[in-house]
Amino acid sequence: MELVIASNNKGKIREIMPLIPDITVLSLQEIGFTDEIPEPYFTFEENALAKASAIAQYSGKNTFADDSGICVNALNGAPGVISAHYSGERDDEQNLQKVLTALKGVEDRSAFYKAVICLIWDGEVYYFEGICNGRITEEQIGTDGFGYDPIFVPDGYDMTFGQLPLEVKNTISHRGKAMRKMVEFLREKSAL
Ligand code: IMP
Repeated sequence: MELVIASNNKGKIREIMPLIPDITVLSLQEIGFTDEIPEPYFTFEENALAKASAIAQYSGKNTFADDSGICVNALNGAPGVISAHYSGERDDEQNLQKVLTALKGVEDRSAFYKAVICLIWDGEVYYFEGICNGRITEEQIGTDGFGYDPIFVPDGYDMTFGQLPLEVKNTISHRGKAMRKMVEFLREKSAL
């Protein structure tokens, strides 16, 4: 079983690989795709589809894409779909600092991560979603993970995703949940 992963995000790829040990994952580099993949839409679903379909078309192979982000309730769901460049730069540190600044003195620190996986398999489109609820800390803690992980504490824990080991993050994260649904789907289809 072979799938192309329509992403260059190293943080995402590092998390996804142990979740699909039975699948041969081809990177964009391996299929010779060197351009930026446009993600111009305002929903995770549309952006995930845009990425997966661009790469499926380019490669002619079964492909999946993850579109994800963090939604902060007191910020009306921001950064949301623009999580990767919330500060105006594709810079994790600047992005998370912008969230911390916006939440200075704000009591409601609830937030959630959302991931939508779009799978294009035998020409059909399938979606798998995962959500992870938690809260934003007052300052960054921990150096593991990527993106907003050092300022996000998942519900039921008292450490950030920047402190929790990858194996723990994968059991409860938005991406882990969405990926397990995709794996289950492929098993049901006897593709795995
Ligand atoms: P995308 O390429 O538009 O899907 O960008 C996803 C962005 O959302 C990442 O660059 C991060 O800023 C943020 N994000 C999504 N998932 C995570 C996560 O698991 N940890 C930390 N940040 C995340």
